[in-house]
Parts: sequence; C-alpha cells; structure tokens
Amino acid sequence: MMNIFSHPSLVDETTSSHQAKVGLPGNYYFSEQIFAYEQQTIWRKTWQFVGRESDLANPGDYLTCQVGDQPMFVIRDNHGKLQTMHNVCPHRGARMLEGQGNCQRVRCPYHGWNFNYEGNLKGLPRAECFPNLDPSAVYLAKGRVEIWGGFIFVHPESQGESLVSYLAGFSDYLNQYKHSWEELQQVDHWFYEEPANWKFPIENYLECYHLSVVHAQSLKCFDPKNIIYTPTGRHYQIFVPFTDDEFVKNHPAFLGEPKGQSYQGFIFPNMMVNTAKDKVSVFKLTPLSPTRTKFEVFIYQTKAQIEEFPYQIEKFRTEFERVLNEDFRVVRSLQASVHSQAYGVLQLADIEYGISHFHQVLSGYYQP
Ligand code: FES
Ligand SMILES: [Fe+2]
Repeated sequence: MMNIFSHPSLVDETTSSHQAKVGLPGNYYFSEQIFAYEQQTIWRKTWQFVGRESDLANPGDYLTCQVGDQPMFVIRDNHGKLQTMHNVCPHRGARMLEGQGNCQRVRCPYHGWNFNYEGNLKGLPRAECFPNLDPSAVYLAKGRVEIWGGFIFVHPESQGESLVSYLAGFSDYLNQYKHSWEELQQVDHWFYEEPANWKFPIENYLECYHLSVVHAQSLKCFDPKNIIYTPTGRHYQIFVPFTDDEFVKNHPAFLGEPKGQSYQGFIFPNMMVNTAKDKVSVFKLTPLSPTRTKFEVFIYQTKAQIEEFPYQIEKFRTEFERVLNEDFRVVRSLQASVHSQAYGVLQLADIEYGISHFHQVLSGYYQP
C-alpha cells in the first residue's frame, strides 16, 4: 500500500516541515489538485447525510442536495419508497429541481422533458423532433438512498456497499442513546462558511485534548480525562462523560446530568453527532473550495424533549456559537499556518489518535 505521504503526485516538498513526522503535509489543506482528487475519490464514493426522512412525507416530496461536487435530489415515489437521482437532465444537462418541495413530475425547466418519481422519461414537448429517441430508454442517472435513525443518506454511485455495512456498527453505538432517533424533529438549523480546508474542523472535532484550553469555560461540563475514543470502521466514537460539577446542573445548552454522558462521534466523511439529555446536535461539513468549508448545525428533539426542554433559539444558539467560535478560531489559525515551511505535526498524543485514524482512512482513498 502506498503511503499517503509518498504519493508522488500529491506531495509538495516545499511545504513539508523538516521536523514533521506525522500528519498530512501543509499542501493537503490548500492544494487545488488534492481538493479535486478528494472530490473524485472521497466525496463521490461515500454515504452522506442529506436530510430527515420526515421531510419527505408524501409522494412527490423532494429535497435537493449537494453530495461532494454532485448535485442530487431525493424524492418519495408512489410506493412510499425514497429514490435518489443526479439532478442533471439527460437532454442537455440542466438542473432539474431546486430547493425543496413537491412535484407531480420531475420536469426540466429548460425544454420540458419530464420524468416520473423513478426517473423514467414520461414526456417531452414536440417529441417528433427526436425521431431516433426511444423514450423508454431515457432516465435520470441514479444514486442510492438509505435511512438510518430517520437520517437520509445518499451515495452518488448506483452500486456498492450498503449503508449498514458502511456504518460498521456505529449505529449500535448511537442506539445506546435513550431517545428514539426516528422520532427526532428538527428544531433549528443554521450554517457558517469557514475559511478553512474541510479536514481541519474534523481533526479538531476528533480530539478533546484542546477542551481544557480552548473551551476552559464553555465546556466545563465534560470530563476530559475520562473520554473514551473508539475507532469504528471509518468512523470514530467519542464517549464523553460529564463532571458532577454544579456548573453541569445549571448549564443552559448542554444540560448535562451530573455523572451523565454524551454519545458523540464522527461518521466519515463529514457528519458529527452529539447527544445530550435535551437534544441531539448534528454538524455537517461540505467542502466549497480547498480553503472554504460550509459548516451546518442541525438541532433535533423528540416530542418528549420538546415538551420538557422547549427550544429557545436565542439562548441555545448563543451557547453553541460561543463554543463553535472557540473552535473556528483555532481552525483558522491552523489554516493560516499551512503555507509556512515550519508547518507540520510533530507528535500526536494518545488522546489525539482520532486524527491518525482519520488520516489512515483518508490514505485508503488517496491511493491511485
Ligand atoms: S436540458 Fe432538460 S429538457 Fe433540455
Ligand atoms: Fe472544540
């Protein structure tokens, strides 16, 4: 197996620190070439979370989404099944659907070719202009869609590993949460566009070594010495116990039960899940360019949680933003260093193993 660091086409010697022994070279965080390579090898070849199944309750309900660089949509068919297709018209490539909504037919806004919910061509204006076209052989390119815990996952390729195999037991870990994942309803959603490569916020998320420095005040509820990290397939479990501090009992956003716990973790390549007594938060990253990343926050509660802990946008977002801004600040500082000849990762502590694991997983995708 070729080592990621010695991949000849991807290593830029001028940016590798003479001291660095571990970690990715700096150019992996800004190179256009590597970004394009990642789009091909990672983002088109993984399952990614795009929405909640409850968003698509009725036949014809659809949502559009970007899976890596692939515009896709998910639609519920007349049999109640979800279908996913590339959001590209086979006639000349126009975008078929926008946003989210309901449609009778998937109709191209350019010349009006229209397709059923399974993606088969059902009609086109002035069909006589295409004497050699067999409409029954024309369809929208398919991807795959599967559900776990009410979360819709899409894969841009039409064949390959199932979601359950891909999750590799990560769902068993999350199923220890005492609330039903299927019953979660979205109560808030917002996003940031951060000037950083997508891998930096993930690496930051994968280690809690920084907790007592970066979040010394904001995350006092977590007990950093007793966090349990467990690699699971391509993913990474981070089981976080709470302290029994007074602070925990009164914390407005995290509402930790004293001696309680939070099931947290990373689902490769871009989903982070965090449970709390009162809600679940999910972070989703979408790479926009080598140095720009969309960072979305979704907040969910079950009906019981909504009743017991009514969601207050102002209060909760303020608390979240405080913690996230602390993280964004360090992530930006990493991004600002990657052109430095001194940039590198000298050593990783055991509690930073999530980063090594992430890099090992990446190396499988970076192979030519
Ligand atoms: S591009 Fe869609 S109908 Fe022409
Ligand atoms: Fe953090």
